[in-house]
Parts: sequence; C-alpha cells; structure tokens
Amino acid sequence: MKNIIIFHFILVGILTACISPNIKEKNLVERYRPQIHFSPDSMCMNNPNGMVFYKGEYHLFYQYNPHSTEWGSMHWGHAVSDDLIHWEQLPIALYPDSLGNILSGSVVIDWKNTSGLGSELNPPMVAVFTYQNSILEKEGSNQFQTQGIAFSNDSGRTWEKYAHNPVLNNFGMKDFRDPKVFWDNETEYWIMVLAVHDHVNIYSSTDLLNWEFESEFTPNFGSFEGIWECPDLFPLTMKNGEDRKWVLLISLRNGAPNGGSGTQYFVGEFNGHYFIPEGNKTKWLDFGSDNYASASWSDIPEADGRRISIGWMNNWQYADEIPTTAWRGAMTIPRKLSLTKIYDQTMISSEPIEEFDAAVSEVKKLQPTKVNGEVLIENDFETPSVLTLRFNTSRRTALGFPEIFGLRLYNDMNEQVMIGMDNLNQMIFVDRSMAGWDNESNLFARIHYAPYFYNSDEIELKIFIDRSSVEMFTKDGLVVMTEQYYSSEPLNRISILSKNGEIEILNGSIKKLFSIR
Ligand code: FRU
Repeated sequence: MKNIIIFHFILVGILTACISPNIKEKNLVERYRPQIHFSPDSMCMNNPNGMVFYKGEYHLFYQYNPHSTEWGSMHWGHAVSDDLIHWEQLPIALYPDSLGNILSGSVVIDWKNTSGLGSELNPPMVAVFTYQNSILEKEGSNQFQTQGIAFSNDSGRTWEKYAHNPVLNNFGMKDFRDPKVFWDNETEYWIMVLAVHDHVNIYSSTDLLNWEFESEFTPNFGSFEGIWECPDLFPLTMKNGEDRKWVLLISLRNGAPNGGSGTQYFVGEFNGHYFIPEGNKTKWLDFGSDNYASASWSDIPEADGRRISIGWMNNWQYADEIPTTAWRGAMTIPRKLSLTKIYDQTMISSEPIEEFDAAVSEVKKLQPTKVNGEVLIENDFETPSVLTLRFNTSRRTALGFPEIFGLRLYNDMNEQVMIGMDNLNQMIFVDRSMAGWDNESNLFARIHYAPYFYNSDEIELKIFIDRSSVEMFTKDGLVVMTEQYYSSEPLNRISILSKNGEIEILNGSIKKLFSIR
C-alpha cells in the first residue's frame, strides 16, 4: 500500500511538471522572447544602468518595474555575465525609498576607497543614480529629481543606500537626471555628467559624496528636439589606434532621424572641467528606431581596452505597447565602439563584440552570384542567426545598376522585413512597414533610412536576426540600424532582391547562433 501511495505521488508530480510547466519557463519560451539579447524574465525593463566590470563579471543593471509590464515604479534590476552574451538575472539591486523611485545612473569601482564606503583591499562598488520623488512631483515642485548613491561590498549582491542622500540637490530643474560617473586620470577627480533638460552639467568630486559644479555643455549645434537624457562621456581611440578623442553620448527622448528616441553624440576634447566639441554636424549613434539610452561599461581592464556599449532596444514612441506578454523590453547586443575619420568628420564606428564568434553553432556559406529580380537563398531560416552579405557596388553609376537591392526576410503570411540600399537616394534602409504588428498610432510599421556616407566598390552588411529584432551593421560600423519587428509567424525565408538592375553578391554566410535561453 505504502509503495502504491509513493508511486501515486511520483506520478502526480511528473504529470504536474509536464502539463503545467512553471510560469517562469513558460515566459522564457514566449514567441517573441529574444534568444541572444538580455530581457528580464518578467515585467518591464527600460534603460541599461550602471554597466561595470568587476572581479571577472560584467554587471548590467537596468530600469525595472517589478509590478507591471509598463513603466512606473522604477527599481534597478541586475544581471551578470562572464561573456556579455549569457546573462544571469539576479535579485533586484536597488529599491525605491522615502526619497523616491530609482531612475538611471551609473556604477563605478572606487579602487582607492575615496568614499570610505569599503576598503582598499575590497574596493566598494558605488552606484550613483537619480531619485524621482513622485510626491514632490505631484505637488508641482520642480525639484523632484536629485542624485543619490548606494554601495555594495559583495560584488553587487547586496546594496546599502548612503545615509546622507541625496548627494546632489536640485535647485529647480524639472529634468535633472541620469548621472554617469568616471574617474579622470588627469585631474584625479571623479567626474559626473548629468542631463539637465537641454544641456549637460559637469560636476567633480574627490570622494563621490560631495560634488562641485564645473561647467555646462550647451553646444550651438546638435539636436535639441527632445529632452536630453542619459549622457555618457569617455575617451575613444581611432580604429588605427593612433589618436584619441573624447566622445559625449546624449540620448534624446524625441527627434531621432527616424522618429522618437535616439542617441546623438559629440566628438571633442575634455580637459577635466569642460567638454569642447569639434565640427558642427549632428551625429547619431544608430539610425534604427530601437537603440535608446546607449551607454558604456566602466572599468573594463586596460589589457582588454575595449569601450563596449549597450542600449535599450526600444523607443518611447511605443515602448509600453510592444506586443510581448510576460515581459517588456530587451537590450541590444553589446557593441565595441571606436572612432573613424571619414572625409573631415570623426565618427563613431560600432561593431558587434567578437564574443559572438564563439556563439556560432552552424555555418552556411553563400556562393557568389548575380541577382536580377529576386532569388531565394534560404528556405528554412531560423533565429538567432547572423547574416553577412558582401555586395559589389563598383558599378554604382553605370547603366543597369539596380535602384534598390538587399534582402527580404519573409514568411507565408506575407509578412516581411527588408534591409538594403536605395541606390537612387543613396540611403541604407530597413523596411518593417509590412512586418506584422503596428502600434495604435501607426508609428511602428515604417521604413527607416540611414545616410550612406561615402563611395566604395563594395558594401558588406552584417545582420543579427533574433525572434523580434534585426541589428544591421555596415562592415566599417559607421551605419547601424537596430529595429524590432513583431510578425505573427517567424520570418523563415530569405531572398536577395534587385530592382531594375543586377546586383552581384561577392560572398556571404548565414551563421546560426546558440540560443542563450
Ligand atoms: C530614459 C529615461 C531616463 C530616466 C529613465 C526612467 O529612457 O527617461 O532619463 O532615468 O528613463 O526610467
């Protein structure tokens, strides 16, 4: 009898496990769940925050509302990785307190224990973030955003708020947020860049606890169409390794080249007090609609030397509407940044991090071919994959060169994403106008364009394709387009298109990637 009862319990246990997989697992296999991007198990995530490398781990904190799949009561979520591809989601790092919700900010390692919040033997991780006091906000005060700090002495597993927060008070600016802090080797000060509505304030500190105003960055060029948010200031070397300049990233809630949110940048010099921009052109980090609030990792070891950024793969135009269910919001893939000089302009070049080379499970090489019309190259396409295509563009002006060429990713439901080059207008484009889902105000299902900066005899596109996103990089990294798409069925076929002319594919490949889920 006892054996029968035990057997019965085992059987019920097995059946329950099979029939009702726990909610967490169910969430992870959702139709749109990214397979090579970080997304939270459940609920709403926006900007990446506090990226820092410490004791062998890449930390990624993020704006997180654990109570809803929409933006609201913001906390700092937390994930760690040892390769920037596989992420382990950890418990929430920072909770709201009496001073407010926890908005964006950064984390530094206080190696010399200047703050006294740890020790030199075990340097503290210090988070500097914005408090958003909703009570003051509701009362109509303009001083509801202040800057606070928290620290951790156990590799970010537990956090304590600093007892004398806020460390930077607000003197009446409604938008006063998103501190990004770094140690300036020249002056031996901590520097903070802070977004203040339509400009950036620069502050300095010797101990992370007391901050002094240094200067205000208000350039006479650039985009001011949206509120400035999430600045990041760092030195960056030229691709050839010869020169180094400073770069200031600034995200704009509205006014990006293809609508809504985007990140502009300035190249220039920083002397410990002022940032002095060069040139007079507005420059954008990514021409797609879905790379917002990009910021870079702190404290990557010098031996590695890379400046790696990550962004929120979304846009405030439709962030709370995208049709995922258990969760909302994913990050872009991490990118390696460097500088390239094109004609008289110094521009940021973004490339996928090399770590993805080790994540390839299968390679299919594409034969060189010429296409006039449309040719199917993959009938059974699966995500996540990286597609590389090198086109011969040497006949750009000759008769017979196509008006438009590129690739079409589609399914039998007539849903498609097209990526290619519009040769008449000299633009690169991603067309998601027929990809399936659109938001209520029809701002999602559109064609997006990026300028193609220069003439060359060939163009190589590298495209990371996941279940609900495409990220296109030109080989030089100067044009990047990050775009979400929500088709009702997977886009499982790929063809090459050439309209009114012939295009030559010099070579290419489809590399299937391992899923991180
Ligand atoms: C940018 C932003 C930040 C703010 C955070 C709030 O997307 O608006 O300025 O800190 O999101 O979640």
